[in-house]
Amino acid sequence: MEEKKRKQAGRKEHDKAAPTIVVVGSLNMDIVMESARAPEQGETLLGSGMHLLPGGKGANQALCAARLGATVSMIGAVGDDGFGAEMTDALEREGVDVSRVLRRAETPSGAASIWLAGGDNRILVYPGANGTLGAEDIAAPENVRLLQEADAVLIQLEIPLDAAVRAATIAREAGAIVVLNPAPAAELPEALLRGASVLTPNRGELAALAGAPTDGDAQLAAAARKLAAASGGAVVTTLGEAGALVLERQGGTPEAVPAAQAGPVVDTTGAGDCFSAALAVALARGSALPEAARYAACAAALAVTRLGAQGGMPAEAEVDRLYSAGLSGSASPADESGA
Ligand code: RIB
Repeated sequence: MEEKKRKQAGRKEHDKAAPTIVVVGSLNMDIVMESARAPEQGETLLGSGMHLLPGGKGANQALCAARLGATVSMIGAVGDDGFGAEMTDALEREGVDVSRVLRRAETPSGAASIWLAGGDNRILVYPGANGTLGAEDIAAPENVRLLQEADAVLIQLEIPLDAAVRAATIAREAGAIVVLNPAPAAELPEALLRGASVLTPNRGELAALAGAPTDGDAQLAAAARKLAAASGGAVVTTLGEAGALVLERQGGTPEAVPAAQAGPVVDTTGAGDCFSAALAVALARGSALPEAARYAACAAALAVTRLGAQGGMPAEAEVDRLYSAGLSGSASPADESGA
């Protein structure tokens, strides 16, 4: 306990403007195909654009947190291949420490096939090297030290659950804020649910995790309460154009956070990642949860105005400007599809 208090006291001395964030998660090469509509089953369709862009929920969150001014380290795994090098280079260029991203000789890098059609997306992920990240990798002394010294730790579910559990447990025991973005939806072990300070599902993920419908406002609030009760932490549900629903604790009153207006929507891929990362940065700087969610809504509204998950991540000054200007309530803050 004394040890924990000392660490927490040490954490307060960190530079609040540049909080220390550790991201434990995936790196994927995104193969983005654009078309006017998605192909039907058995149909071949000619597309209108193709892009190879670094992505992956973990890498997207790491890059976003760095652009927002945090000091960021990434823990993950890529293949020993061209995609792996490209993805780690993209993070390094933004100042993310990638020295804890493992290179696997025997497994190719993760990749995602993304269809962009009619303003929406569909994503199929091949985990590749992401699927090799184990609890024993997280327990490496250097990773444990990083997790223990972090102000906030961001985790998603494109890596094996045992790695996610180990990271959340180490970080939470050391007093870090643990933001768990439960995407893609999966059945969560109790240790992971309990290790999260804040969960950031979208509407569909909330329904899956709570085992309850989330169609109307009342159902949404009830499902969030159910998930908060199971976790013991806060639940911030991202709702696309409808903003976000913030539930600070079990038994609390959910608070609606409206979407921000930043311009026409170009690509919602990565908007949920942007929201989670910005939320973690704001919380690590000491913001209260509703205030952090408003900041995250501004960041995500900016992210959807540009192509690509990482390409869309906003700079700190842009988010500050939108946040200061206040929220108007009509753009998409985060992708409901969980992307
Ligand atoms: O959240 C968006 C991300 O989901 C994409 O970058 C893709 O790689 C998948 O992981």
